[in-house]
Amino acid sequence: MFFAKRRDSVPEVLPTHIGIIMDGNGRWAKKRGLPRFAGHKAGADAFKRTVRYCNRIGIRYLTVYAFSTENWARPKKEVDAIIELLRDYLRDAENYKKENVRVRFIGDISVFDEEIQRRIAESEQESEDFTGLRLNIAVNYGGKAEIVRAVREIVRDVENGSLLPDAIDEEAVDSRLYTRGQPPVDLVIRPSGEYRLSNFMIWQTAYAEFVFMDVLWPDFSPHDMNRALWEYAGRNRRFGGVK
Ligand code: IPE
Ligand code: IPE
Ligand code: MG
Repeated sequence: MFFAKRRDSVPEVLPTHIGIIMDGNGRWAKKRGLPRFAGHKAGADAFKRTVRYCNRIGIRYLTVYAFSTENWARPKKEVDAIIELLRDYLRDAENYKKENVRVRFIGDISVFDEEIQRRIAESEQESEDFTGLRLNIAVNYGGKAEIVRAVREIVRDVENGSLLPDAIDEEAVDSRLYTRGQPPVDLVIRPSGEYRLSNFMIWQTAYAEFVFMDVLWPDFSPHDMNRALWEYAGRNRRFGGVK
């Protein structure tokens, strides 16, 4: 992708909500002759660095794709290693406390063990009143699964009479997603050179701008974030109108 500006500063026009598909950990490790796990560990560091940076420059919402509903297809050893990294992150509450970051997990977390579920609940409760960046961490998340879940809820509400079929509108779906109450995604960043969404936020990105980058996620730096932000700032968002 062509980047018009290569400035190491932050543009004035910032996206309200950024989504990041944190991809390329495996290739990063392979390049170094390391096991895939080492790539995920380095990816976790890139994640913390990026959250800190987004918070510092005043981004309001950040959603990161950490583990998809499709990622269960990987070898058990790798899946287990990723889940242990999630556990490590949760054990270190300082990650969000020190940063004033309000954290929420999106995805079906019921599949995780008791400790992880408890710590997720704690991190969400403890950070509820924090006023900095609002961070959504997508684990066992799939965009299709999220919509199916919303549809089920709509059907239940119709059945119990609290929702009339004719009253089902976009807001009815929106308000039943994990991201209810949050603005749509303005900018999706996907590092690693792949040009796809891989089932990430398929509803919320309906009008998002996409920035695909060649950098592998563990190498993703504030400089790369700035490049993506400048690219975004130069886009002409028309939302179907004329501008
Ligand atoms: C992203 O990196 C991390 C997860 C999907 C959990 P990958 O592990 O997909 O890295 P590549 O795509 O194999 O390089
Ligand atoms: C998307 O990356 C999922 C996450 C980053 C969590 P994948 O590496 O799983 O996506 P595909 O398989 O290349 O589409
Ligand atoms: Mg990948």
